[in-house]
Amino acid sequence: MKLYKTRAIQNTPFKKVLKHIKLNNLVIKDYDEKKRYSIDEIKNKVILGDALKVLKKIDDEVFDMVFIDPPYFLQLPNKKLKRWHVRTNVDRVNDDWDKFSSFQEYDEFITSLLTEVKRVMKPNATIWVIGTYHNIFRIGKIMQDLGYWILNDVMWIKTNPMPNWLGVRFTNATETLIWAVKDKNVKNYTFNREYARKFGIGKIGANVWVLPICQGSERLKNEDGKRLHSTQKPIELLKRVILVSTKEGDLILDPLAGTGTTGYVAKALNRDFVMIEINEKYVRGIMERFKKPLKIGEDSNPESEKIKKYLGL
Ligand SMILES: C[S@@+](CC[C@H](N)C(=O)[O-])C[C@H]1O[C@@H](n2cnc3c(N)ncnc32)[C@H](O)[C@@H]1O
Repeated sequence: MKLYKTRAIQNTPFKKVLKHIKLNNLVIKDYDEKKRYSIDEIKNKVILGDALKVLKKIDDEVFDMVFIDPPYFLQLPNKKLKRWHVRTNVDRVNDDWDKFSSFQEYDEFITSLLTEVKRVMKPNATIWVIGTYHNIFRIGKIMQDLGYWILNDVMWIKTNPMPNWLGVRFTNATETLIWAVKDKNVKNYTFNREYARKFGIGKIGANVWVLPICQGSERLKNEDGKRLHSTQKPIELLKRVILVSTKEGDLILDPLAGTGTTGYVAKALNRDFVMIEINEKYVRGIMERFKKPLKIGEDSNPESEKIKKYLGL
């Protein structure tokens, strides 16, 4: 099926758009007059819309697991960053969706999102939130203030981080995943210990995952051959998250879907999903991506030799 063009969809009367998207069977476009979504209606769908509005239309306590990869609020200067020696531009996250006017505005967005998400989580559901030093400490505080109970943080060490061009700080090679339940009293959440041990490092399977950032043919490209999304997460990362914390048939929510990595991996692992994404160009990317179903091996451990060498093991 030919994909619709961004401008075309913006200028097309709503009914026509809906008809067009319905043909695709994967995407639903949210609209203000729509007041409620049943789970049957949105299971294994991507909702094109604002997560803060869409979540309000979903019933209480329906999801088994939530994965959130929020804007980082990097606050990069407007000037282009040049590589020190070759003087070419460094490709970095400078998207409109990552811009907020202040920490207060950012915190309000995260608080509203996590409040609604908590409501739609089943009583024994778990939630993962990923971030860097720019945002993860704020998010952790907000989660605790909202009553979430943090079970672990998992440190993701990147084997191919963005090089440290200026040499004025450490090379930033990590992201942190917070893993939590709705409150302190939740005990019967899903934790597949054998996977946690397998993916973690060392004999004890510690809470450190070593894997590359999304690269090569896995990275979605736009019409110009450039990366479609600046922060597409690796399939291997979502595979670990899903295998550790869900069972087959579970329903997973990703309210800030980007390129749809969460749902794409969920399907390959026989889980169901609901994804929400506000940006049409990424939703078109998800539609393209899903045309080629993912085959995924539970045992794959990419670049294991390279990783051992990297860690000096
Ligand atoms: C860090 S990216 C997620 C990347 C994703 N994990 C992937 O693998 O591609 C955050 C995404 O949230 C989306 N977003 C930001 N605000 C949103 C909102 N209010 N509702 C829905 N999506 C939103 C952005 O368009 C962006 O694609």
